[in-house]
Amino acid sequence: MTTVTKGISMLVLSVLLLGLLVMIVLGFMLGFTHPLPWILIIVLAVIPVIHDKIVATRFVEWQESYSVGIETIDHDHKKLLGLINQLQTAAHYKTDDEMIEDVLNQLVDYTKYHFSREEEMMLSCEYPDYAEHKQKHDEMIVQVGKYIDEYRVDKTRTIEDVAIYLKTWLVNHINGTDQKYTPYLQGKV
Ligand code: FEO
Repeated sequence: MTTVTKGISMLVLSVLLLGLLVMIVLGFMLGFTHPLPWILIIVLAVIPVIHDKIVATRFVEWQESYSVGIETIDHDHKKLLGLINQLQTAAHYKTDDEMIEDVLNQLVDYTKYHFSREEEMMLSCEYPDYAEHKQKHDEMIVQVGKYIDEYRVDKTRTIEDVAIYLKTWLVNHINGTDQKYTPYLQGKV
């Protein structure tokens, strides 16, 4: 969602809530026993809850099914998901470019740190699919760098696009690639 779209969506929500408030006041002119204003009050109370729930679906929550069974690696994955959520927060609330750049840099740095830690563990345990796994990490570093560079110059690409891209990649990688090494590394690193 671009800043302009975000602004329009907040304006529409505010106008809707204000309109409801006016209708409630007018509704009470029909009498306190009339059901209309009371129904509108319920609608008024429910709209922000629904809005918050829609926003919440864009965030990613850690699930036990993501665990690779190694505490340090799970910690890294949780940290990365947390940074991705910070990007989503930036996408939905007014956040200055400096903060977004800071989170992006932290994400890139921590991803590199995590990959290198994971690769050392795989090597020390002589994990047979090490080369294939490392190749995926190397490709990811290049792709993320490219994606973020494009975001910085292409104003139609939003920070939310970056967050969704990273979230999808990370969750798929954990579930589809990382968890394969669990039997080889668990209890040995
Ligand atoms: Fe947890 Fe292979 O990255």
